[in-house]
Amino acid sequence: MIIEIKRSGPLLGRVRLPGDKSISHRALLFASFARGNSVIENILDANTTRHMVDVLVNLGVPIKIFTNSEGSPTAKITGCPLLEYNRPKITVDCKRSATTMRFFMGALAAVPSDVYLIGDNVLNQRPMERVALPLRLMGATVETTNGHAPVYMRGGQLNGIDYRMPVSSGQLQTALLLAALNASSNSTISYEGTIRDHSVRLLRAQGANIESIPGQIFVRPSTLNPLNVSIPGDMSSASFLIAAAILVPESDITIERVNLNPGRIGLLNAVSEMGASISIEDQYNIAGEPCGDIRVRHSKLRGIELSSDQVLTMIDEIPIFAVLSLAAHGTTTVRDAAELRVKDTDRIDSIITSLSPFSAKITPRNDGFSVVGPQKLAGCVVKSEKDHRIEMSMIVAALVANGSTQILDAGEYKESFPSFLEILNQHGATLQCRV
Ligand code: S3P
Repeated sequence: MIIEIKRSGPLLGRVRLPGDKSISHRALLFASFARGNSVIENILDANTTRHMVDVLVNLGVPIKIFTNSEGSPTAKITGCPLLEYNRPKITVDCKRSATTMRFFMGALAAVPSDVYLIGDNVLNQRPMERVALPLRLMGATVETTNGHAPVYMRGGQLNGIDYRMPVSSGQLQTALLLAALNASSNSTISYEGTIRDHSVRLLRAQGANIESIPGQIFVRPSTLNPLNVSIPGDMSSASFLIAAAILVPESDITIERVNLNPGRIGLLNAVSEMGASISIEDQYNIAGEPCGDIRVRHSKLRGIELSSDQVLTMIDEIPIFAVLSLAAHGTTTVRDAAELRVKDTDRIDSIITSLSPFSAKITPRNDGFSVVGPQKLAGCVVKSEKDHRIEMSMIVAALVANGSTQILDAGEYKESFPSFLEILNQHGATLQCRV
């Protein structure tokens, strides 16, 4: 598919986004292992969550996906505690989704079956040893392929664990929480910095005995009650619209119902610090998560240096932050972001490869990059990268580049935000797709 993008007119109006990817994955999985019927509204209907649903259906979980009376994708799930699935052999094909693989490693660690977790070539590059190691310490047999997928596991009775996570990762934390709920004794999980805590919030709402203080979570073995939630909009998807509105002159948009979990709002804080006109118009709770309507207007930006905690709370937003930094006056520096090298692609390399054709000059570092701006971008013909967040960042760059742009071999955006192009077109941009 080829996406043709013209320099954009002002982006205006109110936008409502699909459900959050991280919360959708968790809600689908946790509801499947709770005894009884759960209803989850506004789930993200995208490639990544479809993979999760496929895996659950293959495991035998009864799941019905339909559009509810308000037009939102909804899942009805009849869950059953995992230990009762009782299969000698389980194969989990996670396709591209590292979230699915890491969550299932934790969830299946207590199951006495031969478990094979497989995925595509992109997923086979992602680190899995960070999850395998603590699960072994809890008593599971876990074999990775040189630290990566495919992964073989044989679970069984797990001991509780007192574990300090060596990487501040929401996925690792979730895998450990799921294993700890099925262990025979209590666990303590410690971590550095601010991590998205969607799992703690959802599992507690399902009756799990979990307590937390900053940097530590205490888990007692527990069973889960069903879940009835509506999922808020995705901050990571919102970030592309926020960036587009900041960059395109005369834009003024309001994005409704966005999740404002403290572990996810690094980009909002960073652009405020850079001088963007951005405000939270209304604040409320959805599914036990802080949420709000974000109003953002075209603004001039100044360069900043991101702190390591800021990086952690906007790790998925660094590619679009790179596009914003090109418009900022002065120097912008990203450090302590080496984790970007093990995302869907090596995102430090991909940021540079994907934005250089627009004439962007970005200086790479081992753990980040720096940019001196403002820089004028030029429309171009460029090949997409196998990475949804890199592709959406290229699309936003094209909205403000001089002339028009063609992105070849495109379509990755459907991984997490299938309505992205439609939303941009509805609010003032001009994008066309050709096969
Ligand atoms: C996620 C956590 C982050 C993020 C990913 C989703 C989650 O990954 O990059 O897109 O849902 O917990 P890490 O846990 O590897 O940092």
